[in-house]
Amino acid sequence: MSPARPEVMTAGFTGADGGQVFAPGATIGIMGGGQLGRMTAMAAARLGYRCHIYCPDAESPASQVTSAATVAPYEDEEALKRFADAVDVVTFEFENIPNSAAEFLAMRKPTRPKPFVLHICQQRLREKDFLSLNGVPVTRYLPVPDREALEEAVRRIGLPAILKSAQFGYDGKGQVRLTAAMNLDEAWTKMGGPLGILEAEVDFALEASVIIARGVDGSMALYPPVENRHRHHILDETIAPADLKPETITAAEDIARKIAGAFELAGLLGVELFITKSGEVLVNELAPRPHNSGHWTIDACVTSQFEQFVRAVCGLPLGSTAHHAPAVMKNLIGEDVTAWREILGDPEAKLHLYGKAEARAGRKMGHVTKVKR
Ligand SMILES: Nc1ncnc2c1ncn2[C@@H]1O[C@H](COP(=O)(O)OP(=O)(O)OP(=O)(O)O)[C@@H](O)[C@H]1O
Ligand SMILES: [Mg+2]
Repeated sequence: MSPARPEVMTAGFTGADGGQVFAPGATIGIMGGGQLGRMTAMAAARLGYRCHIYCPDAESPASQVTSAATVAPYEDEEALKRFADAVDVVTFEFENIPNSAAEFLAMRKPTRPKPFVLHICQQRLREKDFLSLNGVPVTRYLPVPDREALEEAVRRIGLPAILKSAQFGYDGKGQVRLTAAMNLDEAWTKMGGPLGILEAEVDFALEASVIIARGVDGSMALYPPVENRHRHHILDETIAPADLKPETITAAEDIARKIAGAFELAGLLGVELFITKSGEVLVNELAPRPHNSGHWTIDACVTSQFEQFVRAVCGLPLGSTAHHAPAVMKNLIGEDVTAWREILGDPEAKLHLYGKAEARAGRKMGHVTKVKR
């Protein structure tokens, strides 16, 4: 890998990106092969784009719907070079790719969002520090660099609290809820990461999220905040739009605009929020890509989050985020997917399956959206 240049990790870094517009017919390179890449590729195809998937797995949900794929580890410089040569613009459907790979690509092809954005969102401490520096409210938190630091962090944050692995968490993995009864040795082992973050548990009224798109020209478009209900730490249901007070909606939207601006984002950003019982809006975490809570937009909005993502990455004008009707999206996790026949038996249900062969526990296999008419 080329040595990391310090300027790569700033918002001002442009690399190969000169603000180019990519017309239909161009090839979008997508890092990651999951369902987000699959649904992005399907939206891209509708606009006349091709997608080339880069993913370590030969059989991925995204590569099933595209004609070109590079199957290689994210660290493989030769494969990254071939991929960069084969595509016009690069984006990500997955933020946990190594910084070195994002930088390598960004020096060769316009890479949207920039590596800096991934760098911030990859690590919870960096993310919360960045948000705090930009005046965005988050729950109280402290770094926990090792097991020894945990007592002091617990003393300062108080209980209940959540100990999270700073890196590589998703769907609640690497998280432990700490209560007075919890043994801290056990908690540290269960968290499993080399670096932890301790967060004060938020006694929220509800969880919400906002998805914002920002174009190459700085224009922004927001989807209405939605409510997210979790089951076993995995998103179960999204209720769109969320039933929130107008001032809460404004606060959530202002936060999303502020973050997208600070990132000089070109692409899509999902902002996960806690709405406290007193109406305060706190950011939980960020996803610099399409977000699970935006799947309802495929069936209920003028422009789906996936089409919007393609528009933002290619430098096209952003589409309308207006919705035709409220909707409820339910994830099909693991064995839930075996109910596909019953789901299809409801003529109003819109079923989306991701082409995953094995219905492992906790695995997102598909989702179903019901638009309220
Ligand atoms: N500080 C907190 N206070 C209260 N609940 C929390 C806190 N942190 C996390 N949670 C709960 O755990 C869920 C998962 O946490 P988080 O979003 O940080 O993890 P994740 O593993 O990245 O999840 P995902 O990838 O599904 O978004 C949250 O949506 C929320 O329900
Ligand atoms: Mg989350």
